[in-house]
Amino acid sequence: MTQQTQVNGECTTLRSTSRGEIVGRSAKLRAVMDTVDRVAKSSCNVLISGESGTGKESIVAALHDASRRSSMPFVTLNCGALPEALMESELFGHSRGAFTGAHATRQGRVAQAEGGTLFLDEIGELPLGLQAKLLRLLQQREYTPVGDNRTLKCDIRIVAATNRNLVEEVARGTFREDLFYRLNVIEIALPALRDRTEDVADLVAHFCKLAMAMAGRDDIAGFAPDAIDALLEHDWPGNIRELENTIQRAVLLAPGPTIGCSDLPLGASRGGQRGASAGSVAALPDEGINLREVMEEYESTLVRQALERTKWNKNQAAKLLGMNRTTLVEMVKRKRIG
Ligand SMILES: Nc1ncnc2c1ncn2[C@@H]1O[C@H](COP(=O)(O)OP(=O)(O)OP(=O)(O)O)[C@@H](O)[C@H]1O
Ligand SMILES: [Mg+2]
Repeated sequence: MTQQTQVNGECTTLRSTSRGEIVGRSAKLRAVMDTVDRVAKSSCNVLISGESGTGKESIVAALHDASRRSSMPFVTLNCGALPEALMESELFGHSRGAFTGAHATRQGRVAQAEGGTLFLDEIGELPLGLQAKLLRLLQQREYTPVGDNRTLKCDIRIVAATNRNLVEEVARGTFREDLFYRLNVIEIALPALRDRTEDVADLVAHFCKLAMAMAGRDDIAGFAPDAIDALLEHDWPGNIRELENTIQRAVLLAPGPTIGCSDLPLGASRGGQRGASAGSVAALPDEGINLREVMEEYESTLVRQALERTKWNKNQAAKLLGMNRTTLVEMVKRKRIG
């Protein structure tokens, strides 16, 4: 049986980055941080791979912070966020009049990142046409803004991240092999949370402290042994982000002072003791609650989790939530989730 975990207990913080702290003690996470430090000083391209929510963005931030470029810009572009034409101008910029609505010359992310690090998130989503242009950037550090005929030079370090298996994408013909090899000079593979359970207690204490500050609660002392056991048993398909959301919700809803197993809506776990529809029933605090507000918050948290876990694929997210797509779309609009 696990000991009760105190909120103010030991919590191993390996690094503080501009995107939050990196907490954990597992040998796997320490090995990742060692690699980060070893490659930080060079300017070689790095590919960060890992399931959704494993901390890819946090690791890129640590890499930037540990590099000689740390005082220079750290610029992010999500390669799956925009259609190809818009993405090109977002990346390389455009000149005035390059297309309808281009009223002024605009710098792209490449220019914004000059001297620093350009983080290309979800690189597996980059349209094939743009992959060729990115290859040129990687090979020659040259690019041409949309609607321009100049060739511009840049000095940036490129770090890309993906939760897709790019080797499979190359085999399928959706990702250029030459680009893959250029990006993959160094690969840092982030382990799934279920494969480094030694980090769970540290992360729980860390997120609990943050959530208590956010919720304005100082009455939560810690987690009951059965809650910690349940957290260690859970599969964490959404990895650290899912853990963060779970703790936030528990801190918001639990009557306190100890968070127990029934305060944690973990869904299906490896042990299989919990049904996916079981959810959690928080004990009603003596002073009562505003049920409507609590339910709204609870609903929003789960909807957001489903969307994040499915990379905003509304069909899949709706399936995870047991509702139809139209209902989900309406809910996202009404709750302004985005
Ligand atoms: N080792 C860690 N210690 C503390 N917090 C962490 C750690 N790793 C990640 N986080 C936090 O977990 C959340 C998810 O991390 P991050 O956004 O870096 O993951 P990701 O792999 O980029 O996710 P996605 O694939 O969904 O984009 C963030 O809030 C981040 O601050
Ligand atoms: Mg990310």
